[in-house]
Amino acid sequence: MPVDFLASVVLDGPQVIPYWDRIKEHGLTVLPIVGSIAAAKYYFRGASNTWERDMHGKVYIVTGGTSGVGAVLAYELALKGAQLVLLTRRTNDLWLAEYIEDLREKTNNPLIYAEECDLNSLYSVRKFATKWLDNQPPRRLDGVICCAAESIPRNSQRQITVDGVEKQIGINYLGHFHLLTLLEPSLKVQPPDRDVRVLIATCSSQNLGDVDLEDLLWENKRYPVSQPWKLYGSSKLLLGLFAKHYQKILMAHERKDQAPCNVRINMVNPGIVRSPSTRRFISMGSLWGLLLYVLMFPIWWILLKSCSQGAQTFYFGLFAPIIMKLEGGNILQECKINTKVRKELLDESLQEKVYHNTTELIKKLETQSARERNKNKTPEQLKREKDEKLKQQRDLNVKPKSDEELEQKLKSLRSQIGLGMGGATTTTKNASGTVEELPLFPDDEALKTAKEARHSSGSSKPATGSSSSKSSAGKRKTKKT
Ligand SMILES: NC(=O)c1ccc[n+]([C@@H]2O[C@H](COP(=O)([O-])OP(=O)(O)OC[C@H]3O[C@@H](n4cnc5c(N)ncnc54)[C@H](OP(=O)(O)O)[C@@H]3O)[C@@H](O)[C@H]2O)c1
Repeated sequence: MPVDFLASVVLDGPQVIPYWDRIKEHGLTVLPIVGSIAAAKYYFRGASNTWERDMHGKVYIVTGGTSGVGAVLAYELALKGAQLVLLTRRTNDLWLAEYIEDLREKTNNPLIYAEECDLNSLYSVRKFATKWLDNQPPRRLDGVICCAAESIPRNSQRQITVDGVEKQIGINYLGHFHLLTLLEPSLKVQPPDRDVRVLIATCSSQNLGDVDLEDLLWENKRYPVSQPWKLYGSSKLLLGLFAKHYQKILMAHERKDQAPCNVRINMVNPGIVRSPSTRRFISMGSLWGLLLYVLMFPIWWILLKSCSQGAQTFYFGLFAPIIMKLEGGNILQECKINTKVRKELLDESLQEKVYHNTTELIKKLETQSARERNKNKTPEQLKREKDEKLKQQRDLNVKPKSDEELEQKLKSLRSQIGLGMGGATTTTKNASGTVEELPLFPDDEALKTAKEARHSSGSSKPATGSSSSKSSAGKRKTKKT
């Protein structure tokens, strides 16, 4: 059809174009306008990524993968065959179930899962990270993409997270800080031939943010109702400082295999995107604002990027080989590394202090929240939790997290195989009244000696005594009563 049309324009002349007379009449006025719109649209769409990488078999954790840029990224990565673990506020949600099902169907990729990790709550983040780290053998992880964010519109009152922190700082900064630092063992344990790339979404509004070491989380300062972007910007600036210092920590880690650090953490600025959060921000969360946004849509269409255009720099961060050749902690923008950064991002001592202070603040907040949670629990709930914890501690299939837990598990193992309730060793009295310790896995000779000792001392059960998790099988210790 277009070929036919073009052929008739060439052969029969431009008068075959509909409304040609009017075009001829107003063309000189209309053409520059259309040209300018096209040029502006082309300019504001930003740079496009030109790198490709095979994503089959790679595993990514994605926050904010249900909306805006994160959703486009999830779709593209799934299309390329990556396995995705989308962290969402909740998982018992019909909309989410359909979203995942739809994504799997459209991308022909069944390896897309949702896990609960509400960045609004440090406890929820810890629960997810613990579950992830508990997995044996350690799970494959090729990267973490942090796209989730909260941006509060102008003239809204201060909102707080479950832990009582201002929402933008709490979700954007604290939640991601907690998630990534808890995942540190998983990041460090990945084989050396694996490129592990962590991308954290940032925003130009970080230039409006502030870092106040005495009040990192804006707990004491007045909440700027008419300028909430100051907190949004601060959350992104803090994330940048965190990324810088965290990269240093990972670089300094000495791997058992002596291989160099294979994790790179970078910030990605997607530009201004026509995403749900931008719409909410521009419309100020009101119906009138939404109406205005819809009426002005042609302007947003020209000036703002689509989510897919916003995702381009994320692809650059995930696919470009140069990322692994540099140290990390960079800001990626328009598919290149932005070298013009705020002075705080060059201040290593400030970055270290921010990291340290935030770690301390998280400890404090987690303790406070745990107390609050316990206060609101019924005695039955507390008992059930205690029993559950005890069961976990004794479960031999779960890796012990502390020496104490190891001890518990050894006790449980000993009792299961009928070796009394000692720890790694158990004690028994011999004929001369000396208490002897039995190893956890006694050989025939050790068992025979213990039996003789029990017979001669007249006791039917081995006496439980001191235990040591470090004693090894076949090794005997003797101690005087
Ligand atoms: N849009 C822009 O113009 C722009 C500009 C610069 C930078 N950025 C950054 O780019 C990233 C993506 O922006 P966007 O506008 O595309 O995002 P968006 O559409 O607003 O989506 C935000 C995502 O964050 C998730 N989220 C919010 N609170 C959460 C919580 N407590 N726990 C877990 N997930 C939570 C949302 O989940 P639900 O689906 O459950 O709501 C949603 O998937 C953000 O980090 C943003 O700061 C955006």
